[in-house]
Amino acid sequence: MNTMCDIGIIGMAVMGQNLALNIARKGFRVAVFNRTQERTREFVNTRLQGEPIVPTHSLEEFVSVLGKPRRIMLMVKAGQAVDEFMEALFPLLEPGDLIIDGGNSFFQDTERRLQEAEKRGLLFLGTGVSGGEYGALHGPSIMPGGHREGYELVSEILERAAAQVEDGPCCSYLGPGGSGHFVKMVHNGIEYAMMEAIAEIYDILRKIYGLSSSAIQSIFEEWNESDVASYLVEITGKILGVEDPETKKPLVDLILDAAEQKGTGKWTSQVAFDLGVPTPVINQAVIARSLSSFKEKRVLLSQIWGRKNDTALCFDSKAKDALRQTLFLSMVAAFSEGFHLLQVASEELQYNLNLVDIARIWKGGCILRARMLSSIQKALAENPLLIFAASEFTQKVKESTKYARQIVKTALEFATPVPVLSATLAYIDSWTSASLPANLLQAQRDFFGAHTYKRIDRPGTFHTVWEGETE
Ligand SMILES: NC(=O)c1ccc[n+]([C@@H]2O[C@H](COP(=O)([O-])OP(=O)(O)OC[C@H]3O[C@@H](n4cnc5c(N)ncnc54)[C@H](OP(=O)(O)O)[C@@H]3O)[C@@H](O)[C@H]2O)c1
Repeated sequence: MNTMCDIGIIGMAVMGQNLALNIARKGFRVAVFNRTQERTREFVNTRLQGEPIVPTHSLEEFVSVLGKPRRIMLMVKAGQAVDEFMEALFPLLEPGDLIIDGGNSFFQDTERRLQEAEKRGLLFLGTGVSGGEYGALHGPSIMPGGHREGYELVSEILERAAAQVEDGPCCSYLGPGGSGHFVKMVHNGIEYAMMEAIAEIYDILRKIYGLSSSAIQSIFEEWNESDVASYLVEITGKILGVEDPETKKPLVDLILDAAEQKGTGKWTSQVAFDLGVPTPVINQAVIARSLSSFKEKRVLLSQIWGRKNDTALCFDSKAKDALRQTLFLSMVAAFSEGFHLLQVASEELQYNLNLVDIARIWKGGCILRARMLSSIQKALAENPLLIFAASEFTQKVKESTKYARQIVKTALEFATPVPVLSATLAYIDSWTSASLPANLLQAQRDFFGAHTYKRIDRPGTFHTVWEGETE
């Protein structure tokens, strides 16, 4: 019997442990290593139930138990830890061996690391993994990019470990270079937007309609059987039903309203700006998290402003339906922005991404999994610039927009901030406006900076002396 391991995983925190168990339960032999040995020991003692997992205590031992070509997956904190492990592994590996970075690395770091590996004759994959702890154990969505030859070495392992949906495993080779991590980054940007849209709807329900957490829980449970059915809607319902054991209050009411972030949403916005792709819904979600973090200042200002949370509106099935349609619209807008960004990046960075396949691998195991992804697959097959404008969605989006206007108007009247819900409308209204006030912007630019402008009635480039010449 071959006792060499099929794959090795470095990093025995939440993701590494669960992925190792998942892969081992599919019948592959897995070597594991962690910088702090105690963590490996604890894993072996508390979680192993006869799975073919081989704990190792040094990188040398780890490498020595791997079958050749060696396949090594890093599941460590993104950033320096990845570089440090790669440097330490280089002298221990041979040409043809494969390193996979399965963490949330920035795609440009992945491009650099791929070249570092290539210089040594090694293969490299930068791989997004979505689904958190549960997904890692039961089947995540896996987004690998980099050397195709490298993917061939692990396709069987990754595809069997991934979530399975009706049209295949939620893992597929996405493209060269940093494309896997690029796709994961955009995935996280969409995730930020969907989370914030849900949070804003929750805020309206509790503050404007005065509903209790348990009433809101029932609404999200009901919606999880509708067109907004998704992992994030599902977990929101579950979260709202959890009681704090000590106070017996809904736990969510006791959580400090100051959001943290690791940066993947911010990267999505930054890269979208660099590539000239408008992503206002995602951007507003990133800004909402930043603004929430200034808790003390907000509390102070709310006192100066004399803000009160008087609830006034009566909740009925019409309001519930309008809120669901508003959430639907924001979800579609978030996906539209994300896929637009992927489309542009695919051309600019020569990733040659298959967007339909990306929608497919997000359908299972993934934080973004949502019923609407099947429609998004169909919409993308039409090759539209924007998903919301594909025939699959146009009618429904037009209809939802009417409801979203009512909801945003109500939120504004009650001074309840809904940055993502309002950005959704601005995004759709801007894209569907033949005329925008950019004519005035061009005139202002030309006034103060002689930047010139184009006219609608004749070709050419023009400059006007808008008032008497300055000295
Ligand atoms: N948690 C999630 O839901 C999730 C979902 C998708 C993707 N990811 C990504 O997957 C990766 C792993 O995530 P995680 O949550 O399991 O773990 P994590 O908290 O991001 O990282 C902890 C792991 O990294 C190691 N590490 C940290 N700094 C190190 C350094 N300087 N040198 C060597 N090792 C170092 C730790 O080793 P020690 O034990 O020795 O400290 C530990 O194994 C991350 O990139 C994360 O962003 C996480």
